[in-house]
Amino acid sequence: MTQSLTIRRPDDWHLHLRDGAMLAGVLPETARHFARAIIMPNLVPPVVTGAQAAAYRDRILAAIPEGMSFQPLMTLYLTEDTNPTDVAAAHASGLVTAVKLYPAGATTNSASGVANFDNVRGVLEKMAEIGLPLCIHGEVTTHDVDIFDREQVFLETVLHPLRERTPGLKVTLEHITTSHGIDYVSGADGDMAGTITTHHLMINRNHILVGGIKPHYYCLPVAKRREHMEALRKAATSGNPRFFLGTDSAPHSDANKESACGCAGCFTATNTMACLAHVFEEEGALDKLEGFASMFGPVRYGLPPNEETITLVKEPEPVPYPAKIDTGDGPVTVFDPGHPLYWRVA
Ligand code: DOR
Ligand code: ZN
Repeated sequence: MTQSLTIRRPDDWHLHLRDGAMLAGVLPETARHFARAIIMPNLVPPVVTGAQAAAYRDRILAAIPEGMSFQPLMTLYLTEDTNPTDVAAAHASGLVTAVKLYPAGATTNSASGVANFDNVRGVLEKMAEIGLPLCIHGEVTTHDVDIFDREQVFLETVLHPLRERTPGLKVTLEHITTSHGIDYVSGADGDMAGTITTHHLMINRNHILVGGIKPHYYCLPVAKRREHMEALRKAATSGNPRFFLGTDSAPHSDANKESACGCAGCFTATNTMACLAHVFEEEGALDKLEGFASMFGPVRYGLPPNEETITLVKEPEPVPYPAKIDTGDGPVTVFDPGHPLYWRVA
């Protein structure tokens, strides 16, 4: 029997599109299913000023294929030199939807991120005043903290003090990977929300390391123990509007992933909706998918949910999807959940 599910067209509240040939190659994969996405600013050099965000938005709009519609929601990359007035102007003009905080050195192209949080107080206070949300990569980068503990330690030593110092600041803890992150967001006040990726609902650290190193499962924050994956699945399928989809789909060429020092990032744009339908069905929560992928994010960001719909169809046989996307920067491997997928977007 064919099963189908019609939901409002989803949005992606955390996406890497890159630039140039990579942008042209990967953008259709997102625009095919998603109406809007929060675009990460970690280009080289990063998108720091309103002028840079406007120029990047124009390059994204120019790369949308004929016949597809897609709205990029731009972000600014927070540095210790970020000017509160520039941020406020970019927000007031409607250009910028959020500001992104990378702790310096936490991940891909984060060298210009924040090392001393005292130096961004003025910007954060201005953001609280004007209601501009802060998206956070929540990991400490100190070398004495184990990579599997970096999210948990960040909550206690950075995030909580930062929020206490800046009342009213809206914060999104992005790509949550631990039960600690879930508990923190669930227990905080209404200024706090969190995004969850597709891949962190489907892989844990065994997928990366058992039977040989699998570079295409390596991302940051790195996937944790199975119990954490289970906490994420529970939160995502709970119907709690604090948790919504941010795929963190992060393309790198195969040459850059399959290397002695492979880049962090899972490229999930192509099959995210099929993967999510699979997970939500396994959790007996298909009725919660629309909230997670299409409703809670817009509410959080004060935007209307999309009027259009998509229909997910479950086939009796596995539905094929491409193993790789060809881009002008080389092939990019599509996330493999490790089992067949039966859902497709009609
Ligand atoms: O795995 C990741 N890839 N995590 C990040 O935070 C950055 C991203 C990227 O830009 O490749
Ligand atoms: Zn990211």
